[in-house]
Amino acid sequence: MEPVIPDLRATPKVDAYNKLRDMQQVLLEGSSDAIAGMATTSALLHHAFAHLWTGFYRVVEPDRLLRVGPYQGTLGCLDITFGRGVCGTAAAERRTVVVKDVHAFPGHIACDARSRSEIVVPVFGAHNTLIAVLDIDSAELAMFDDVDVAGLEALMAWFQTADV
Ligand code: SME
Repeated sequence: MEPVIPDLRATPKVDAYNKLRDMQQVLLEGSSDAIAGMATTSALLHHAFAHLWTGFYRVVEPDRLLRVGPYQGTLGCLDITFGRGVCGTAAAERRTVVVKDVHAFPGHIACDARSRSEIVVPVFGAHNTLIAVLDIDSAELAMFDDVDVAGLEALMAWFQTADV
């Protein structure tokens, strides 16, 4: 395995996500620690794709409150209530939310004014418990599509299989 995270911006996205999945499996082999998984996975994604912000908001009060966890990028806000913004919506509805244009999303929380599009993926642990959401912000409009949904959901499956 390479000692550094590869730049995958020029790689077809399906291949890029497969590569990251392989790296994630190797790097997290034997671990069942949620924070280690979040830190490692956010570093992989952030540096492979050079996003604006890549990280996790953890469920600290079930069905009520998300709090920032491991991330890469500019500063993120600390707490997000379920139902608020893109992260809070994905958490409350337990589904992936793709936002092509954040300015058209009512209630979007702007932590970085350069953010133009966003994807938020729920993270489930053992027994299908929602433990966090993965949030990725891009400076480009409509950065995320169905390939990202499938690729990121596959990466988030680590948390369930690792039984965190
Ligand atoms: N944009 C997110 C908030 C988190 S940050 O951008 C890091 C949202 O609307 O949920």
